[in-house]
Amino acid sequence: MICRKVTLENFRNISAAEVCFCEGVNILVGENGAGKTNLIEAICLASIGKSHRGAGEDELINFSASRSRISVDFSDSVRIQNISVSLERGRRRQVELNKVSINRLSDMVGVFNTVLFCPEHLSIIKDGPSARRNYLDVAISQLRPLYIASLQRYNHILKQRNMLIRSAKDDRRTFDETIDFWSEQLAAEAATIASIRAEYIRRAGGYVAAIFSEMTGDREVPKLRYIGSSKDEEDFYFDREAVKKRYMELLSSSHEREIAAECTLWGIHKDDIEVTLNGRPARIYASQGQQRSLSLALKLTEGEICREARGEYPVFLLDDVLSELDEGRRKYLLSNIGSRQVVITTCEPAALQSAKVIHVKNGTYEVVLS
Ligand SMILES: Nc1ncnc2c1ncn2[C@@H]1O[C@H](COP(=O)(O)OP(=O)(O)OP(=O)(O)O)[C@@H](O)[C@H]1O
Ligand SMILES: [Mg+2]
Repeated sequence: MICRKVTLENFRNISAAEVCFCEGVNILVGENGAGKTNLIEAICLASIGKSHRGAGEDELINFSASRSRISVDFSDSVRIQNISVSLERGRRRQVELNKVSINRLSDMVGVFNTVLFCPEHLSIIKDGPSARRNYLDVAISQLRPLYIASLQRYNHILKQRNMLIRSAKDDRRTFDETIDFWSEQLAAEAATIASIRAEYIRRAGGYVAAIFSEMTGDREVPKLRYIGSSKDEEDFYFDREAVKKRYMELLSSSHEREIAAECTLWGIHKDDIEVTLNGRPARIYASQGQQRSLSLALKLTEGEICREARGEYPVFLLDDVLSELDEGRRKYLLSNIGSRQVVITTCEPAALQSAKVIHVKNGTYEVVLS
């Protein structure tokens, strides 16, 4: 997938701009506050229908304007298409694909594929398990819409089951009569999600290892492992029936503990990914640059798995990825990109023969080399 042209009107600090991208590496260079991330954000908006920074729609419109428009021409191996997003203060945003209105965000999934890496993604390695579960959910949802449905069902069942647990102190009888019903549904949905997550991590592990091998010349060896809340061996989670049975056993033997804790103690809401570098937990022992490399490798992997499924790479948007990476890692990123299109932002002037360099200043974009 290639992002060809982005046209912006009154988007953040950009009054009007038209930016064309090449098929390989595109570098956006500019000072802090120039408008680099804003352009990345606009591309994200056309891809997933919302800001990757979680910004409200009003925030995206230029301070002195009442409406804004983002239009992106992109192509896959078959055709060129256009997505446009119109924002207006106090109104719902309008999205059009090839001039036809799209009403639901889910209709945008898989149309214009991008993978974003931004500094906040360091949390995938650094933070607690929920950051890693979130990484998995975002990555898998783009490939399997049924996964989203399963996850939504799971969360609904979990909520109901937790409510029942909390009401047990006042109404033990209803709890005893209905808890098995909710446990069974939860265990069934957990087994489906656990097997999909375990499979994804198995595949991702191979890619992350290959990326590191090239990036560090085999000096650093990362490993990923799925950690289910029942703490069984990773292979166990591929057997859905066995997982369902196991979770059912755990849930039914934990009633008193769950009532004391006022929540469900077993299930995929407790999952984690163990990430190690040369055999040691990366969260604790890896350096800042190594952690950044790991989270980046996980994001590049998201793109590899997307290509496996769709036959084409997504567009890689790498915001502020170069700082903290040593020379070897930067080189890997900027030259081993192959047939991928990359838009990368940096504050430091970068000269790269095979790249298109775009200077960013006060919301304007000027190609200086291509
Ligand atoms: N709605 C808006 N209207 C006008 N300007 C805005 C709006 N929202 C944000 N800005 C401005 O956009 C600029 C931020 O741009 P951006 O985040 O793209 O910077 P950047 O080039 O990525 O900088 P850095 O290198 O620090 O990451 C800020 O100066 C901010 O004040
Ligand atoms: Mg920025």
